Amino acid sequence: MEKIKMEDLTPRQVVAELNKYIIGQDEAKRAVAIAIRNRWRRQNVENIIKEEIMPNNIILIGPTGVGKTEIARRLAKLAKAPFVKVEASKFTEVGYVGRDVESMIRDLVELSVSMVNSEKTEEVHEKAKKIAEERILDILIPPVSKPKNIEIEEVESEENEALQNEKTREWMMKKLQNGEMDDKIIEFDFTVPAAGMKVFGPSGFDDMGINIQEIFSSMVPKKKKKRRATISEARQIFIQEESQKLIDIEAVQREAIKRVEEAGIVFIDEIDKIASSSKGGHGPDVSREGVQRDMLPIVEGSTINTKYGPVKSDHILFIASGAFHVSKPSDLIPELQGRFPIRVELKSLTQDDFVKILTIPENALLKQYSALLQSEGIDLVFQEDSISEIAKIAAEVNDNVENIGARRLHTILTTLLEDILFDAPDNISEKKISISAETVNQKLDSIVKNRDLSKYIL
Ligand SMILES: Nc1ncnc2c1ncn2[C@@H]1O[C@H](COP(=O)(O)OP(=O)(O)OP(=O)(O)O)[C@@H](O)[C@H]1O
Ligand SMILES: [Mg+2]
Repeated sequence: MEKIKMEDLTPRQVVAELNKYIIGQDEAKRAVAIAIRNRWRRQNVENIIKEEIMPNNIILIGPTGVGKTEIARRLAKLAKAPFVKVEASKFTEVGYVGRDVESMIRDLVELSVSMVNSEKTEEVHEKAKKIAEERILDILIPPVSKPKNIEIEEVESEENEALQNEKTREWMMKKLQNGEMDDKIIEFDFTVPAAGMKVFGPSGFDDMGINIQEIFSSMVPKKKKKRRATISEARQIFIQEESQKLIDIEAVQREAIKRVEEAGIVFIDEIDKIASSSKGGHGPDVSREGVQRDMLPIVEGSTINTKYGPVKSDHILFIASGAFHVSKPSDLIPELQGRFPIRVELKSLTQDDFVKILTIPENALLKQYSALLQSEGIDLVFQEDSISEIAKIAAEVNDNVENIGARRLHTILTTLLEDILFDAPDNISEKKISISAETVNQKLDSIVKNRDLSKYIL
């Protein structure tokens, strides 16, 4: 993927990028594009008014399977932003048993740490590889060290030996780097990584921002073991060890936190499930409102303790999403409503949309299946009329059985292609399979006509 800088991500450009993956839903695309740009704009505002400008949190409203999550996910990827998706209904109010809402920020930081860590690992890879190969070389041909205080007459032969050793090592290093030695077995000391002994602390420790893993692994002495492996395996192990030594873990954590604070995106799914449709009720409604109240300071901007340090949530972008069949955004507590000023509705997908979804996105389903079969040496082609037939059936089943949006295309395609996917390569001699509208009908018609059958299969 080419590198896109935040400055270059203008709203228009964001929409253009999203268009590569998501069909329609223009309003939602515009809203997220503006929101992410406004965050950048706000960070670049110089004076005190900066503090007064509110974040542009969004509620995406729409039925299932129409692209709500996909839009947010693609946006995050585009902006190289740390991104987590949480289900609002999984949270409970502080004091109840369950996850407290602050855990979403902790999850985000966790993700950001591993994101930054893998970037840094990439950066030091070449260096780590060099050291790793030196280590292997030292095992194969230990260097001779020039001893001190040696007799004069011995000097010459010692120097000769050292020179000879150096030459052999150079020669061996070439072979190593060319991969000629890869299958040879060597023995080496191996430090058992701390991750190999996972400690499960009492639940709740993590929620308090305490790293129980670290406390324990610093208590237990690191185990060293002799290990035999091929040179190519050893190289991987050493590269891993050396990159961890080269990376400044504290710098990684600082960078990770900064990235969360400046660019983090939290996607809160099923927000409608914590909105109460009846005001002033008892029972579950009370605790739902509690969750909303717990959420409020985080969305408003506060400091959350994590095991990597405190994190300010002021600039984190929150995108909430829900079907809102029963409740409405106005059923959320007013304070929370105020923190999600942008509401966008996503539309139900039509047959025409399905045709486009099947073919246009870079990861379009038909492209995926063609690629799968290409690996068996089979060309899978969909004739134009077969595509509109698949789209038509998807729309029909969505109407008649249940509207699950674009997810319907998955179930239909797996049913349609099941035989081919099973028979390839043993039982298929053709190098090219062409799917026509007729093929589609033959395979699916009987299922579509039988409502009960559709319920189970499609
Ligand atoms: N407009 C669209 N364009 C392209 N693909 C889409 C579109 N809508 C949905 N999809 C595809 O359908 C699948 C489900 O979409 P997504 O996860 O975004 O649904 P959702 O709106 O979040 O639904 P839910 O409310 O159930 O979470 C994804 O694989 C996505 O790629
Ligand atoms: Mg979703």
